[in-house]
Amino acid sequence: MKTIIEPFRIKTVDPIRMTTREHRETALQRAGMNLFLIDAEDVLIDLLTDSGTGAMSSEQWAGIMRGDESYAGATSYHRFHEQVRTITGFDHILPTHQGRASERILFEVMGGPGKVIPNNNHFDTTRANIEHSGAEAVDLVIDEGRIPTSRHPFKGNMDIAKLEKLFSDVGGENIPLVMVTITNNSGGGQPVSLENLRAIRAVCDKHKKPFFLDACRFAENAYFIKMREEGQSQRDVADIARELFELADGATISAKKDGLVNIGGVLLFRDMEMAAQARNLLILTEGFPTYGGLAGRDLEAMAQGFKEVLHEDYLQYRITSVAYLGEKLLSGGVQIVEPPGGHAIYIDANAFCPHIPPKNLPGQAIICALYRHAGIRAVEIGSLMFGGEGQAPDMELVRLAIPRRVYTQSHIDYVVEAILEIYAERDKLRPLEIVEEPPQLRHFTARMKELDA
Ligand code: F0G
Repeated sequence: MKTIIEPFRIKTVDPIRMTTREHRETALQRAGMNLFLIDAEDVLIDLLTDSGTGAMSSEQWAGIMRGDESYAGATSYHRFHEQVRTITGFDHILPTHQGRASERILFEVMGGPGKVIPNNNHFDTTRANIEHSGAEAVDLVIDEGRIPTSRHPFKGNMDIAKLEKLFSDVGGENIPLVMVTITNNSGGGQPVSLENLRAIRAVCDKHKKPFFLDACRFAENAYFIKMREEGQSQRDVADIARELFELADGATISAKKDGLVNIGGVLLFRDMEMAAQARNLLILTEGFPTYGGLAGRDLEAMAQGFKEVLHEDYLQYRITSVAYLGEKLLSGGVQIVEPPGGHAIYIDANAFCPHIPPKNLPGQAIICALYRHAGIRAVEIGSLMFGGEGQAPDMELVRLAIPRRVYTQSHIDYVVEAILEIYAERDKLRPLEIVEEPPQLRHFTARMKELDA
């Protein structure tokens, strides 16, 4: 295979500094073994998230300087509106400060006590906003989506039979909308096929329900469709992306992912009445509808970012370079969620250190070792994040999220080396015990200690 190069050259650099092992050990102990509590300057390679951590292009920075900061009707808003309309085809386009602001408004309009909202897998802020409205969030991903070794090409698909069953079990009157997350972040960054989206559309039509996308990573999903779905390889990714949006009645987007910006979000509607309600809520907490909690310069950066993200050279590099990390780990014997996802690689922590039971946080043991050994920061997605009160998640995972256009192949080679070195000594990884935890979202602030192996 030919080498896929980074399709950009570097004009501005941000130094990263190696720390000593002693320094990192002290930082770890001070943070109670919680990497959310470590300062960024003590991290060499930061794979905590791909959200808001990307590098902007020179055209985006030029947009930042051009930003029109008028309160109402700014030219930057019109540029943003035009670009989002071209990509999505939606008429009602509301800017928000980030994805969860779009979610909060959407579910204030459509959620509420007694309602049930299905998704392939709700992302945690989506679930939290649904539950905050009093509604229930249900995950209906296909069974293959929960099996790390399954190589199904569209593991983010929703199980249509389960969706139909939900309609007959709880009654259509209690399901205000159907939602699908592209790509499916909580399920490993796995894509959803066009065929599946069309089938969900058909179910929604049958029951006369609106269909919404959580479209944070729509461009990565569209590229996977081009690569993997029958009959799609000759289409432009932009054309596929447009079809994804045309199948839906609305969407929430965190532009911090495929918008290629550090802050920003979008809320989209086809229905005028729904959009009017959302616009009133937007004014209440985000801002006037032509800026929605952002500065004019942020709207400029988003407009340009949405344009750049659909460039096929970029998407080929993006998807191929994430897969490069995944395939290198697999060939070194490390089990990941297969096939590699669009924005991140997820290590199967149970397979990595079977001697640590879920209650002693195998994923957290791996990320602490990775930080201590090599200054790399990853995130646990397992019993620390989703467990507690007798609950255990389906999988114990470590997510290595790749910021967009930030790290080069040699950074990634360094990450691979470090993980394989820890893997070679995996029997030395030590179990953890929580010593202090808050009542909710404990992974952000809990403190832990290492036990003897
Ligand atoms: N939906 C999905 C699928 C997401 O991945 C995220 C954020 C959100 C909604 C919320 O967007 O952060 O702009 O409010 N995911 C980040 C992550 C935080 O690390 O995966 P936000």
